[in-house]
Amino acid sequence: MPRKLAAGNWKMNGLANSLDELRMLAERHANVGVDVLICPPATLISACAHLPVRIGGQDCHAHASGANTGDLSAEMLKDAGASAVITGHSERRADHGETNADVAAKSTAAYRAGLQAIICIGETLDQREAGTTLDIIDGQLAGSVPDMATATNTVIAYEPVWAIGTGKVPTIAQIADVHAHIRTRLAARFDDGGEFTLLYGGSVKGSNAAEIFAVQNVNGALVGGASLKADDFSPIITALENA
Ligand code: PGA
Repeated sequence: MPRKLAAGNWKMNGLANSLDELRMLAERHANVGVDVLICPPATLISACAHLPVRIGGQDCHAHASGANTGDLSAEMLKDAGASAVITGHSERRADHGETNADVAAKSTAAYRAGLQAIICIGETLDQREAGTTLDIIDGQLAGSVPDMATATNTVIAYEPVWAIGTGKVPTIAQIADVHAHIRTRLAARFDDGGEFTLLYGGSVKGSNAAEIFAVQNVNGALVGGASLKADDFSPIITALENA
C-alpha cells in the first residue's frame, strides 16, 4: 500500500511567530498513522527541524553548490533539517519558467542529497478545456520524473493549475480519472509504480478532504492555504487518517 501523506506548502508565508501554529499541529498529530510534512519558507526550516513532523523545502537548485546567488541546494535543505523538497510546483513552472527537464534535474538533486522529491504535475484551465489533460500529464511524467525515481524517494502530486488557490475543485470523477492514469503510467514504467504515494492538490480543505481521500489512488494531499493554520490543516490530517 502507498504511504499516506498530508503535505502543507506554506509558499511565501510565515515568520518566526508562525512556528506556534506548527508546534500546535505537531503536538496534535505526533504519532498518527499518516506522514505529516510541512514545507515552510526555507528561512524557517532549521527552526522547525526538531518538531515531530517532517519538514521540507519548496524548491532547490540542481547543483550541490556554486555561483548561484539566491538559490539553495538540496544538500543545504537537508543540512537544515528537511527530509523532502517540492519540485516543479506550477508556480515555479509559470513564474520562473521551469521546464520538465529543470524539474527532473532538481528531483535528481533531491535524490543525491537524500531528500524525497514531491514532483508536481497538472494541467492549466486552457489545457483542461481543450481536452488535453492526460497528454499534458503524460508529458510531465515522462519529462519531470527521473528514471531513478522509486516509491520511497518520490511522491507525485497532481495539482490542476486552475484549482490552486481558487477554491475550484475538479469533480471526484475528474480526480479519479487523472489519478488512475498516473498510476497506470507509473506501474508501466517502474517496478514499484503501484506503491508511489499520489497526492491531490488544489483547494483542499477540511470540508472536501474526506470525499477526495475516498478516491482510489489518492493517497494524500498537497495543501497550500489550508495548511497555514493548525485548525484548518488538522481536519485534513484527520480525514486522511480515517480514509
Ligand atoms: P491551495 O494550494 O491548497 O492553496 O489551493 C495548493 C498548492 O499550491 O500546493
